[in-house]
Amino acid sequence: MKVLQISAECYPAAKAGGLGDVVGALPKYLNQQGVETAVVIPMYRTKWITQQKWQAIFGSKVRQGDYYVPFQVLQFESTPENDLGFPLYVVDIPGRFDREGVYIDSHTGYGYNDEVERALCFQQAVLTWLKHSDMKVDVLHCHDHHTGLIPFMIKHAHEYKSLGHLPTVFTIHNGEYSGAFHWKKGYLLPYFDHEARGLLDWSNVIHPLACAIKCCWKLTTVSKGYLNELQRNAQGITWLLNHERPKSKGILNGIDTNVWNPKTDKYLPKKLGRSIDQFKDANKKAVLQHFRLDENRPLITFIGRLVGEKGAQLLPSIITNFLNAGGNASFAILGTGDPNLHRVFSQMRQQYAGRFDVALEYNEGLAHQLYAGSDYLLMPSKVEPCGLNQMYALRYGTIPIVRAVGGLRDTITDIGNKDGNGIRFDHFSVPDAFNAVRRASQVYDNPKVFKAIRKAIMKQDFSWEKSARIYKEMYESLV
Ligand code: GLC
Repeated sequence: MKVLQISAECYPAAKAGGLGDVVGALPKYLNQQGVETAVVIPMYRTKWITQQKWQAIFGSKVRQGDYYVPFQVLQFESTPENDLGFPLYVVDIPGRFDREGVYIDSHTGYGYNDEVERALCFQQAVLTWLKHSDMKVDVLHCHDHHTGLIPFMIKHAHEYKSLGHLPTVFTIHNGEYSGAFHWKKGYLLPYFDHEARGLLDWSNVIHPLACAIKCCWKLTTVSKGYLNELQRNAQGITWLLNHERPKSKGILNGIDTNVWNPKTDKYLPKKLGRSIDQFKDANKKAVLQHFRLDENRPLITFIGRLVGEKGAQLLPSIITNFLNAGGNASFAILGTGDPNLHRVFSQMRQQYAGRFDVALEYNEGLAHQLYAGSDYLLMPSKVEPCGLNQMYALRYGTIPIVRAVGGLRDTITDIGNKDGNGIRFDHFSVPDAFNAVRRASQVYDNPKVFKAIRKAIMKQDFSWEKSARIYKEMYESLV
């Protein structure tokens, strides 16, 4: 069986968040289980993509309104040293994707304004390629709204109907973004059956997320908890998610335990040997130096995009309230996002020198070092479809402090319970998060308890094998 994963991100080629990690890992594990899986993404000009060797395998053009947009499909030429564990294809669309950023223009800090055109070109280019290539595919697996019109297009767009028999799986990694756009831009779509118009529409706009949910054969979300939450409240599409309940399933993501292995991680100044204490102490020391933070305090870290869903806007108040109240901890933040938050954090690092520092960047290596060198990882998420960071933290001996939502609720149990693996709080609010941070600092003051928790969480298993098997069964049920 052959499966093609179609996505906007795939680690290490292009990653903005967890979507990239999942699409860069799941195919590897599926291949190991005998499901031949390849990935296709747009050809951005990320550092990784520009440094690799590619072979052009297909070229054509797609119609967008009055224009024809040329594109090429290229295949990654892997060597034994940089083998990904799956074939990777990129679609080169000059004028649309030959930019460094995946979604965000680093010069302005805001998203690109031709998002709609970009997504449409990419989806059509992939289908044009599939239609003409002799590559046999049995299942199309689409991820998030950027690829959400594909299940519709192969059924109802004249050009792509020869692919209409292909089963489609659609995974919601982030239901906060729908990709919706005005019908005024409908002329950019490929010609489609007029009577199918309703499938594109939700509340009088073209809604790729809703359209995907309606047209896909199987719908998945990245945890059971998140699926339940969406069925209760999904910003205007709650009814639709309930209607499509029979074809829906929550499948928890795993983590790539080859990339995230504290014993071999190439980014770490000190790898895990026999002593957990030595591993944590040496990495913490390196991180404290990098971030210019005081020693002898618990280090609490936030890693991720500085956006509303992740609760980034709560961070300034949580941290300043805690430090102003004389709390014992230091804080480090790594990530980029809301330009206003960038300003606030830059100011805070002056004001709270030694106790707070921030790296306003996307930095994969530094993220690994922080997981290894921190005592706690704070995830005050408003929404968290799965969350991978808490799993990376566990594996690297960093205790997660999480809001009990979505995948965080599914993976983290409070240490007040038997086998607890983190600190949980319920409400999306500064006082609740503040209390959780205070509890963390108290636990740290009791080294025996703290170290026992740390040791236990490092043994937990969140690898992909189990979930990959569930996807495999799902694909098999479709062909
Ligand atoms: C998105 C979600 C995150 C999830 C990831 C991978 O980034 O916000 O919770 O872990 O996708 O599915």
